[in-house]
Amino acid sequence: MAPKPTAKSAPAETPAPPIRQPFDLEDLEGVGQTTADKLREAGFTDLMELAVASPGDVAEAAEIGTAIAQKIIGEARRRADVGGFESGTAVLERRQKLGRISTHSKALDELLGGGVETQAITEFSGEFGTGKTQLGHQIAVDSQLPAAQGGLGSEIVYIDTESTFRPERIVDMAKAIGLDPELALSRIHVARAFNSNHQMLLVQKAQELAREKPIRLVVVDSLTAHFRSEYLGRGELAPRQQMLNKHLHELLRFADTYNAAIVVTNQVSARPDILFGDPTRPIGGNIVAHAATYRIYLRKSKPPKRIARLIDSPNLPEGEAVFSLTGEGIRD
Ligand code: GTP
Ligand code: MG
Repeated sequence: MAPKPTAKSAPAETPAPPIRQPFDLEDLEGVGQTTADKLREAGFTDLMELAVASPGDVAEAAEIGTAIAQKIIGEARRRADVGGFESGTAVLERRQKLGRISTHSKALDELLGGGVETQAITEFSGEFGTGKTQLGHQIAVDSQLPAAQGGLGSEIVYIDTESTFRPERIVDMAKAIGLDPELALSRIHVARAFNSNHQMLLVQKAQELAREKPIRLVVVDSLTAHFRSEYLGRGELAPRQQMLNKHLHELLRFADTYNAAIVVTNQVSARPDILFGDPTRPIGGNIVAHAATYRIYLRKSKPPKRIARLIDSPNLPEGEAVFSLTGEGIRD
C-alpha cells in the first residue's frame, strides 16, 4: 500500500497560504488592514479586479506608492493566474459554453442568431416607447426558464436607472408562459441606480451576488441616461466617455466571469447633421459601439408592431425582424 501523504507537512515548506474563499485582500503580501479597507472601498473586492487594475488606480485608491501598488498587482496576477496567452482550443471551449436567452419573439431570436447571447453585451436602442424596457422585462422572465425552453435557469440582476421596472409586468409575462409569478419576481434582484457612480457600484454588488446565486443575466435599463444627464457640455464629453467605457468593461468582465448575458438599453439622440435617413443615433458613440457585441436598433411600426434592426455584429448578417408589444409581453 502506498504511504498516505501526511496532512501535517511542515508549514515552512508550503509556498503560499491557500486563498480563503471568499478571497481576502489581506492574504496578499504587502496588504495590511488599512490598505485592504481602502481597496475594498474603491471596489477592488476580488483578485481579478486587482490583477487587471492599473498601478495608478490602485495607488490612488489605497493611498500608497505606485511601486507598492505594482507589487500588489503582481502578487494578485500570480494568484489569479492571469496575463498569459490561452490556446485557440481554450477559447473555442469557452465559446462552446455560450448560452442563449429567448426574447420570446421567434423573429427577434433569429435576428440575434438564436437569442440573447452570454459572454456578450447586447444593446437595444431606440426612441421612447419602442419597447426597450419591455424587452428587458421579457428577457428577465425568459432567462428563468430551463434551457430547452429558451432560458438558462437564471436569476437576474436588474439595474433600473429610470424607475421603470414594473413588477406587475413581470407577473403578466410570467403567467403568460406558465411560470409562478411570485417565484419569477423573487429571482429578479432589482436595484435602482441613483446616479452613474451608483450604477457602476451596482456592477460590483452584482459580482458579490453572483458568487451565491446563478446570475446569468444582467439588465441595465438605461445604460446611458445618468451619464448623459450628469456630464453636460462639450468639455465633459471625454470624462463621460471614459467612465462609460469603464462601466462597459466591468459589465463585459462580469459576462466573461459568470458566462452571463448583459442586456443594456440606450436612448437615441438627434443628429442634426444628418439630413437624409434616420436622424437619430444611439448615445455613447464609438465607446458603446465597440463594447456592445450585438446592437439592435428599434423603431415603431403599425401598433403594436416594432421593427428591430441588427446594426452591428461580428458574426451575424445585418437584418431586420418585426415583433409585437402585447399585454403578455414580447411576441411575433
Ligand atoms: P423609453 O424608456 O421611454 O425610452 O421607452 P422604451 O423603449 O423603454 O419603451 P417601453 O418598453 O416602455 O414600451 C412602452 C410600450 O410598451 C407602450 O407604448 C406599449 O405599447 C407597450 N406596453 C407597455 N406595457 C404594456 C401593457 O401592459 N400592455 C400592452 N399591451 N402593451 C404595453
Ligand atoms: Mg424604457
